[in-house]
Amino acid sequence: MNAWPKSSALLKSNEQWIPGGVVSLNRKSDPNICFEKGKGSRVWDLEGNEYIDYQAGFAAAFLGHNDPDVNEAVQQTLGEATLLMGAGPTNLEGEFARLFCECVPTADSVQITTTGSEATYHALRIARAVTGRDHIIVMQGGYNGWHNDVACNVISSLADVGERVSPGEYPFDSLSAGIPAQHKALVHVVNYNDIASVEYIIKRYPVAGILLEPILQNVGIVKPLPGYLESLRKLADENGFLLIFDEVKTGFRHALGGYQQLCGVRPDLSTFGKAVANGYPMGVIAGKKEYLDYFVHPEKSKRVLIAGTFNAHPLTTAAAIATLRKLSAGGVYEHVNKLGQLLEDGLNDIFSATGRPFNVARQGSAFCVYFMDHAPVDFHDIATHHDFAFDKSYRLKLIEQGIFNFPLPIKQGSISFAHTVQDIEETLAKTNIIVDQL
Ligand SMILES: Cc1ncc(COP(=O)(O)O)c(C=O)c1O
Repeated sequence: MNAWPKSSALLKSNEQWIPGGVVSLNRKSDPNICFEKGKGSRVWDLEGNEYIDYQAGFAAAFLGHNDPDVNEAVQQTLGEATLLMGAGPTNLEGEFARLFCECVPTADSVQITTTGSEATYHALRIARAVTGRDHIIVMQGGYNGWHNDVACNVISSLADVGERVSPGEYPFDSLSAGIPAQHKALVHVVNYNDIASVEYIIKRYPVAGILLEPILQNVGIVKPLPGYLESLRKLADENGFLLIFDEVKTGFRHALGGYQQLCGVRPDLSTFGKAVANGYPMGVIAGKKEYLDYFVHPEKSKRVLIAGTFNAHPLTTAAAIATLRKLSAGGVYEHVNKLGQLLEDGLNDIFSATGRPFNVARQGSAFCVYFMDHAPVDFHDIATHHDFAFDKSYRLKLIEQGIFNFPLPIKQGSISFAHTVQDIEETLAKTNIIVDQL
């Protein structure tokens, strides 16, 4: 029996006008569940079921759904500033840029887009303009957006990605049709945490930049091994290419200065999105002034184009300013880290008692339970050892209990500032119930 008939009906109806029935196809879940309301740590589906939410709009709602301070800033702006865009800057974008640069130590200046994909797109363009080289390196299992340079495998089967090779590279097996072969030839996909593969590529190709999530958070939580990010920094310096951290997921969620603040490795450029405006659409390219200034390079042949009718839309920018102010005011990171630790400890207790191999991977408020006996080091490690079928049943059983993690194995979960100790305790109590049924 379909427990979500209204959700299925909505998708079916939308399919008449939208291919697949939904505008970002990675939002389509199996089973189909559609939501109509979100507040704080909770979301409600079309059937009226309430859930404690760990999907958080693909990790964007870091303060929680409909944060009152963010909403108030947007509402104030709604009456004043929506028509200002179109000629010259707004006060809001300057204020946001100043706040952002105060938060992120490697940001001398920023440019603002509407999505994270645009931010990674522009960062790679700058790397190419700065170095005069065309080739780039990205990570197997990383996700950096939808465009030609980065639309590689994310959660794919071993049959799709092949066995691990090291040192070496994987063919650009793209997530999308329509990418020219000539373009794919410029993109080199390597193992995360594998310096030898990066060295292999840079010996063979003129590399403009390496783009990576400093923690792979689109295949759960895969952390850098000690020294890995430092070695990338060194290779970039020695070989004249740019190190670009894609902090669209890690940025602002783990620290005000991004994950780079915690790991101490300084990228040349970084990209942000998601949590920066707590769910309003914004992407940011940040970094060294000498690189950001390529957007206004005096020589036309070196100037990098940035344009966008909706870039730094006043409503989004007001939301982002309110978000950064709230994050800067203190208390947020302490709260989410405490809840993260509580969840991690509880899950460790529950799964230890099952005798099943598991690993609770966590960074602050972001977590993933792997059903394998060690913390993964790269995507192949997960694809080879993780029990995907068990993971799927675990997520479905939790959903039946009113705990929403996206029902796709190895999708990372996100705790928000709006979650409470009671939310975590309820999550653990319900996990305790379902482990006996699995
Ligand atoms: C690490 C990372 N980079 C880039 C993107 C693309 O951002 P957007 O979906 O806003 O285009 C995402 C989206 O999930 C992401 O997780």
